[in-house]
Amino acid sequence: MDDPTPAAGFRKGLTSYGDREFSAFLRKAFIKGAGYSDDALTRPIVGIVNTASGYNPCHGNAVALLEAVKRGVMLAGGLPVEFPTISIHESFAHPTSMFLRNLMAMDTEEMIRAQPMDAVVLIGGCDKTVPAQLMGAASAGVPAIQLVTGPMLTGSHEGTRVGACTDCRRYWGNFRAGEIDEAEIGRVNDQLVPSVGTCSVMGTASTMACIAEALGIMLPGGASAPAVTADRMRVAEKTGATAVAMIGRQLAPEKILTPRAFENALRVLLAIGGSTNGLIHLAAIAGRLGIAIDLDAFDRMGRETPVLVDLKPSGGGYMEDFHRAGGMAAVLRELRPLLHLDALTVTGRTLGEELDAARPAFVQEIVRSRERPVFAGGGIAVLRGNLAPGGAIIKQAAASPELLEHEGRAVVFENAEDMARWIDDPALDVSATDVLVLKNIGPIGAPGMPEAGLIPIPRKLARQGVKDMVRISDGRMSGTAAGTIVLHVTPESAAGGPLAAVRTGDRIRLSVAQRTISLLVSEAEVAARLAKTVRVEPAVTERGYRKLFLRSVTQADQGCDFDFLRATECKHRVPGEKTG
Ligand code: FES
Repeated sequence: MDDPTPAAGFRKGLTSYGDREFSAFLRKAFIKGAGYSDDALTRPIVGIVNTASGYNPCHGNAVALLEAVKRGVMLAGGLPVEFPTISIHESFAHPTSMFLRNLMAMDTEEMIRAQPMDAVVLIGGCDKTVPAQLMGAASAGVPAIQLVTGPMLTGSHEGTRVGACTDCRRYWGNFRAGEIDEAEIGRVNDQLVPSVGTCSVMGTASTMACIAEALGIMLPGGASAPAVTADRMRVAEKTGATAVAMIGRQLAPEKILTPRAFENALRVLLAIGGSTNGLIHLAAIAGRLGIAIDLDAFDRMGRETPVLVDLKPSGGGYMEDFHRAGGMAAVLRELRPLLHLDALTVTGRTLGEELDAARPAFVQEIVRSRERPVFAGGGIAVLRGNLAPGGAIIKQAAASPELLEHEGRAVVFENAEDMARWIDDPALDVSATDVLVLKNIGPIGAPGMPEAGLIPIPRKLARQGVKDMVRISDGRMSGTAAGTIVLHVTPESAAGGPLAAVRTGDRIRLSVAQRTISLLVSEAEVAARLAKTVRVEPAVTERGYRKLFLRSVTQADQGCDFDFLRATECKHRVPGEKTG
């Protein structure tokens, strides 16, 4: 039986024994077994999600952060209680971390709801963890504040500064092209990840940290402090104290994660040259609150939002440079006329008030002015056309300018295994002007929409010095990657999308100026080919989470969330007007 009266502290959400007072009595007896006093148990409780894991070096400082958060909670008069959830690292998640993001979101939501806490601190960092936590917290409805582990430091290889993971891909490309040998690639491997923390460029983890700050669900200044710095520890302590203050203000997530906050976040995603994955994750978080992202309106927003942040993979710097340059305050100050300054933040103050209180601007080279941007258009463009009726995207800021308008012959790989088999075969019929097409790496097809959209340049072309080609898939790519890569083709090929109809030898035209991606094959021929393709259905032998995933995952435009986890009603479309 549910507890009919609202309760706080450890009396919240009592376990059902049919006798509420006995349930409270029993709970108190058990927690006293852990040594808590009556005084401690009268305090507001701040739950702290602990995602430390031996399999997650990006969260290698989580235990130290946890202690700092606890200190902040206690200094503010609260009782901190940590609890574990799933932790996901990009390189230690099979088949792909995206396959597990929704599982982590469900774990986070249900444990926030099931356990007594008046507010929650979410300690995340590696790519999928922050979106999973925000999705779960948005649905759980308890006051929540995001803390990230922070970016790792950079390393040095023979005088050249290096960092994960843009340089991992660059050096690997050089190795594939025969430009460096096995001994050197081994030495580089030692230097790419020189400390704990998240990837040191504007990849997905950094993008999601900046987006969380733009949403107002993280402390101002919380996105950029490197993992191993005193700044990061101070952010953690203040996060704990802020969580206690949020209880008094009843700052539930829906008060912060409003349509206007999502518009701010989309604007920031464009201005930081953020990861394409950020768009999928924002769609998923917003979808929990009945907010849909209008891809075409997002594209229009991109045309008036230049890329300001000079970080890899779109620019040259690293996250530690961004932090020294003033971090998100510098970006938000530059974007100020384009932002909703009345959006509320976790501090109880508005974004505008926080910007007024931020430390003054100073001369630096990492965050540019809107008059002198890194890239004049938005970082991400939305494409439509007969190949992607539900939309596709391209990170134009990280593409080769000469390939943004391109027509070429398709060279098709039916799936990731087919690509792995042929891509380096000297007999592969491919030239530098061809368009590489990879099918069946979408949400259902792979499954889990792996970051395989960065199709490698065929070895024989790489050895001729080819660095980039137009590549198209229904998958994703790492936020740390660069190239002329069309991603998130929707609907995906495994769901019967037109991508399934493409054959080697077809002509494909990409026009980023016109925002189109076109298969130059007649409508009747595409329909005839699609009629012969077989849609992927879960096999009867599937079981467990994989079965749930295959039955329930939505397409990229809905954030690849599970259909039953999204809000039942769409109340708003962003950027844009209220629809209902
Ligand atoms: Fe964790 Fe890049 S692998 S942030």
